[in-house]
Amino acid sequence: MTTQEMKKAFEEAYGRKAEKIYFAPGRVNLIGEHVDYQGGSVFPCALSFGAWLLIAPNAERVLRFKSLNMPQSYEIPIDAIAPQPDRAWCNYSLGCMDIIARRHPEAKLQNGYDLLYYGNVPAGAGLSSSAAMEVVTARAFTEEMGVVIADDKKYRTELALIGQECEHVYAGVMCGIMDQFASAQGKKDHAIYLNCDTLEFEHVPVKLDGIKVVITNTHSPHHLDSGAYNDRVSQCKLAVEQISKVKPIKFLAELTEEDWREVESAITDPIAHKRARHVVGEVARTAAAVEALKRGEIAYFGELMTASHVSLRDDFEVTGPELDALAEAAWQVEGVLGSRMTGGGFGGCTVSLVRDEAIETFKSFVGAEYEKKTGLKADFYVAEIGDGVMRLE
Ligand code: GLA
Repeated sequence: MTTQEMKKAFEEAYGRKAEKIYFAPGRVNLIGEHVDYQGGSVFPCALSFGAWLLIAPNAERVLRFKSLNMPQSYEIPIDAIAPQPDRAWCNYSLGCMDIIARRHPEAKLQNGYDLLYYGNVPAGAGLSSSAAMEVVTARAFTEEMGVVIADDKKYRTELALIGQECEHVYAGVMCGIMDQFASAQGKKDHAIYLNCDTLEFEHVPVKLDGIKVVITNTHSPHHLDSGAYNDRVSQCKLAVEQISKVKPIKFLAELTEEDWREVESAITDPIAHKRARHVVGEVARTAAAVEALKRGEIAYFGELMTASHVSLRDDFEVTGPELDALAEAAWQVEGVLGSRMTGGGFGGCTVSLVRDEAIETFKSFVGAEYEKKTGLKADFYVAEIGDGVMRLE
């Protein structure tokens, strides 16, 4: 859908013109999975698909929410911003407005707004459609509510923090910062090497001659409900508590693999032990992968991606039969350098590095194997790495 078509849809929905248009992307994480809420470093890229938001102020002191993807619309008075029941989609938007006001006492909604959202991140694919919606809303409404942060990098980091807090408070998912950060700070043809403890980051060029980043959708919706995800967050916290009895730490990511061997026996809970082993290994793999990419050693980068999947499957237990079927089929294809689940897991997508000449075989072989094992049809997208959130008009 073009922005012209979105503007037309806005006029049809509200009988007047949109005044501003914003865009924020979804993301794919190349490596560094389930480490962000434990102070680890991650390596995501913003995608060219994401969420658009069109807005115009109104004189009625109400917020009207419509979406070109979801049938429900909502109307909420500006003085009654609070979480809505039944997992209302407007919570991602309302939540950001609320969090902006909580984090910036000077910020205020002066009047009502008509809002129209459109998203083209495949739903439930684990490519951060909700983070895109949060970040696009945070971008628009920091501006509308009068938040001024002159330094662009700091401003974008603040947008990510608003989105993350919205996810905690309005969606009940105790997520890390990765998704919102990638959506806010993305850069075309670069991945973001982000330290999730300090929020320091570096844009690293993704120059892959003759190789593509291919995203494969299981079409098995990732059930990133608060349940399984928040369990992992708590299990890691338990590991931190138990390790701290012998070596005080704030986050698992502080441990090198050598430290790990010294302290692992302090974890008495076998599940927490496995979870922590994943985090420590993944942090080391991610650092090695970024170095490999910088040196142009893409084959090694791919091997680390595959090792990441194995650890997420065996120790973190967030893959499930669909993601495993995709990754295991991909590993068999000549010309695939590496393949792993990406995002929260339990469904969603894999990300693979595939040589140009192998892409067609990859699609047909992986597609057929996947269908044989699961009865589902997979979808393939060659990733276009795009920029972070922006105002378009
Ligand atoms: C989800 C969360 C992120 C991160 C990933 C796993 O996408 O929103 O914060 O924890 O899972 O790496």
